[in-house]
Amino acid sequence: MTSLPAEAFEELLNDFEDLLLSGVRRPRAVPQAPPSPPLPGEFPAAETLAALAEAIEGCRLCPLGSGRTRAVPGEGVSRPLVLAVGEGPGQEEDLSGRPFVGPAGQYLDKWLSSVGLSRKTNCYIANTVKCRPPGNRDPVPEETQACLPYLNRQLDLLKPRFILALGRVSGQLLSGENVSLSRLRGRLLSYRGFPLLVTYHPSGVLRNPDEYRPLVWEDLKRLRDLLRSAPEAGKTGEGGE
Ligand code: URA
Repeated sequence: MTSLPAEAFEELLNDFEDLLLSGVRRPRAVPQAPPSPPLPGEFPAAETLAALAEAIEGCRLCPLGSGRTRAVPGEGVSRPLVLAVGEGPGQEEDLSGRPFVGPAGQYLDKWLSSVGLSRKTNCYIANTVKCRPPGNRDPVPEETQACLPYLNRQLDLLKPRFILALGRVSGQLLSGENVSLSRLRGRLLSYRGFPLLVTYHPSGVLRNPDEYRPLVWEDLKRLRDLLRSAPEAGKTGEGGE
């Protein structure tokens, strides 16, 4: 005698129970496996920024996920001229779930507004890692790599005209060049086909304004001029990652 597989046997019992109790067979819901979280390096399949933010808020792909108060997916308009990419959330961002809300963030808002940009009207602000590194240390490569698929997906959804990388961690990650910030800034680079400029991080400039402020101003003017001269320019299709 051949034995029935367990599921078929259970289905038969269910049908029998239905027939005994009510004389009709009722369709049963097929049990669905819960969606599996993305694996490290796997592209999160979020179709919208909101769905992506939800995925980020549940992320445990690296140890930063277990130390955070809140994840900080990003903030701004959905079709930005500029995607500004910082390093990672600090204490205030970790508490609020919003990027660049502390002193560095207020300074960044001033920079952007000096060239007609704002997270409220034409920019999006994100970070290389979406969860706070303990003690505000720099994120390590394992963390930025684990988090990179989220930034890549943000890029694909946002399609900014320009990326502005803020600071060494973001500049090196996006340019793919392991060189000092002074060698990254002042050049028109690209990441995944999107034009990329690198400048200093607002926290660094707050610590040493005399040295860095004039350089940041040069970079912002360059960004403004590039936006003016190529208002429709977007993805270049060259270079990248
Ligand atoms: N510094 C960053 O790099 N990102 C933030 O969101 C806040 C401070």
